[in-house]
Amino acid sequence: MKFNIIEEKIITSTNAVLKDLANNGAAHATVLTAEGQTNGKGRLGRGFYSPEKTGLYMSILLKEGIDEEPPLLTTLAAVCVMKAIKDLTGKNTQVKWVNDVLLNGKKICGILTQGSFKAKKLEYAIIGIGVNVSTDSFPEEIKNTAGSLGEAPQFCKELRDKILYHFSVEFKKMKNRDFLDFYRQNCVTIGREIKIISPGKEPIEALAKGVDDNAGLVVEYKDKTKGVVSSGEVSVR
Ligand code: BTN
Repeated sequence: MKFNIIEEKIITSTNAVLKDLANNGAAHATVLTAEGQTNGKGRLGRGFYSPEKTGLYMSILLKEGIDEEPPLLTTLAAVCVMKAIKDLTGKNTQVKWVNDVLLNGKKICGILTQGSFKAKKLEYAIIGIGVNVSTDSFPEEIKNTAGSLGEAPQFCKELRDKILYHFSVEFKKMKNRDFLDFYRQNCVTIGREIKIISPGKEPIEALAKGVDDNAGLVVEYKDKTKGVVSSGEVSVR
């Protein structure tokens, strides 16, 4: 996989700008990074705090080999981020289903995969990865849950290259689902009592039992029936 890396300084959002590039013919494996984002996007309409030169803000465009669902791409990217951090720092991270990478219980990375569909077919996917590398202060609303790798700002590029290395290795063999074993082994959600929070609905309590082969969260409800959660938000109780 040969990446074409475009480096920007401050932009709105690497996902949003890469989407424009994708609609204007950007090739498979185009990667866009920014030193900072003024409108970093998170899941469920949230923002992603993206101060200048303290984090890695990167999006990867995929136009080929993506007849898989976006959630699978998110879990694949999480595995690559975790492996890259381990290689470079020796630190073990965990993943909170589906897209948050944690270090010592704090979120240091978020992943937002967005798909563009044409006639129900996934035309392209953009995987956005944000890692707090040297950020040391966070806004009030996330200051208790967000953390940082505590590395120097120059680490961003090294991390980018290591994540892309793992991505090129893992993406080729994504269909065999082997990466999901690593994901499951390091997923803090499994075995925990959770609340499933879906927009506009009452939270539902359940026990997280595992992650299935489509990256869905297998849960057991209070009445012992089983189900699979594939979107929405899960809070660990
Ligand atoms: C989340 O935590 O809900 C996902 C956060 C994803 C943030 C990254 S930063 C690079 C890319 N561009 C964006 O606007 N968002 C993603």
